[in-house]
Amino acid sequence: MTPPEGGPHDSTLDPEDWSEVRRLGHELLDDLIDQLSTVGERPAWTPVPEHVKARLEQPAARLPADFSDVLEELKRDILPYATGNIHPRWFGWVHGSGTVEGALAELVAGFMNCNVGGRDHGAVYVERQVIGWLADLFGYPAASSGLLVSGTSMAMLLGLAVARESVSPGEMRTKGLAAAPGPLVSYASDGAHVSIRKALELLGLGGDSLRRVPAHAVSGLTPVALEGMIEKDREAGLHPFCVVGTAGSITTGAIDNLNALADICVRHGLWFHVDAAFGGALMLSEKLRPRLAGIERADSLAFDLHKWMHVPYDAGCVLVRDAEAHRSTFSADRNYLSRFERGTGAGDPWFTDFGPELSRGFRALKVWVTLRTHGLDRLGEMVEKNCEQAAWLAARIKESESFHLAAPTSLNIVCFQAEVPAGASIDSDELNREIVMRVQERGLAVPSSAEIDGRLCIRVNITNHRTRREDLEIFLAAIEEIRLEIVQEA
Ligand SMILES: Cc1ncc(COP(=O)(O)O)c(C=O)c1O
Repeated sequence: MTPPEGGPHDSTLDPEDWSEVRRLGHELLDDLIDQLSTVGERPAWTPVPEHVKARLEQPAARLPADFSDVLEELKRDILPYATGNIHPRWFGWVHGSGTVEGALAELVAGFMNCNVGGRDHGAVYVERQVIGWLADLFGYPAASSGLLVSGTSMAMLLGLAVARESVSPGEMRTKGLAAAPGPLVSYASDGAHVSIRKALELLGLGGDSLRRVPAHAVSGLTPVALEGMIEKDREAGLHPFCVVGTAGSITTGAIDNLNALADICVRHGLWFHVDAAFGGALMLSEKLRPRLAGIERADSLAFDLHKWMHVPYDAGCVLVRDAEAHRSTFSADRNYLSRFERGTGAGDPWFTDFGPELSRGFRALKVWVTLRTHGLDRLGEMVEKNCEQAAWLAARIKESESFHLAAPTSLNIVCFQAEVPAGASIDSDELNREIVMRVQERGLAVPSSAEIDGRLCIRVNITNHRTRREDLEIFLAAIEEIRLEIVQEA
């Protein structure tokens, strides 16, 4: 039956008036660029007001709305309440600050709306090129494989999935852990990130199968202790299979001796995975790169592009030295997803062969644009600048009478505590927590906190290309004043 002309059969979601959408798009882009170029003039963090939260709890609309009204709502209720990491005084957790070029690339990716799970089209070649650039950056062989993912947590899961598969190749996928020769255990520094444990939980190995090796705040885990633990576990009938090295620990930026870890893995036949979530960016700097010596020996590597490489969220990467081990961990269905020699269905292997997702967005474009625009050396200069800023800040804290360092600063992280004046009726944790909250609430800066030796400290992590010396001075003056204020109130 031929559908009648007009009516719903001919309607699409495209605008009837493209010129109006063009006008609104240009206006929006102007607003966004204005907003980003003046971000430092506004608070580093703005809490979402209650009335805005209430509007954001409304049910989905059944009827269409004018796009111009939707944009007004967006500008009013969403745009002003960003996380804050685009601000020059964002020092919390480990966040990258993004770039305008990367954000524009996101816009292009949205327009192209590519599905990069597979097939033969431009986006696939962009992701392959990006993976090649990153493999080269880390000293990986050209034949290694990789996949862009949402972040290091996901990259960790994928890397450790390949590690688990390597215990009984082919069997693990069909029989599960029954194919393992014994209870699988793995090792990481006691300062290692929680995403390792999460990955092991998801892989069915249990979080407790992760052994925590004693670590130092700068030099990371102790190789001798690691080797002792492996031997003891073997004697106890367990099956050690993997060591996860940390290249930049979350609390203090500690870097494990990656060469020593690689040697141990070779001696004991273990998979060597490295978590280089933010520390991987040291590879961009000729001066700092030697600190990661040995990273090129890892069997798999997880790191972020959205942290110290400033690609807008979200973008992480997993690299695997043995591409076939990687592919055979994930490759499936050759029926519906069969590959042709020519046409759109060509392009074997597909990215879906290297991870759990079939449909995948064009994440690679913002990575490509960021790396093409700024170049590896310029990005590396930003990494060096941040380390110098952290050293400067640590020196100010060291000479201060109001604060003291809680751990040595060897990279980009400064952990410190406020002094509690003699006789003040406030406890150290309470004082430091209150300083963090007040400086954030006033929009002056966003540090976060960490626990070192059981005590809470203020933690400043600088992975921010917008930070200048004056931002650190403003921050220091602010926490000095807030500390006094709290002590006087106590
Ligand atoms: C050392 C380390 N590993 C893993 C992660 C997790 O990365 P993501 O947040 O991209 O999943 C982080 C995040 O801060 C990290 O610092």
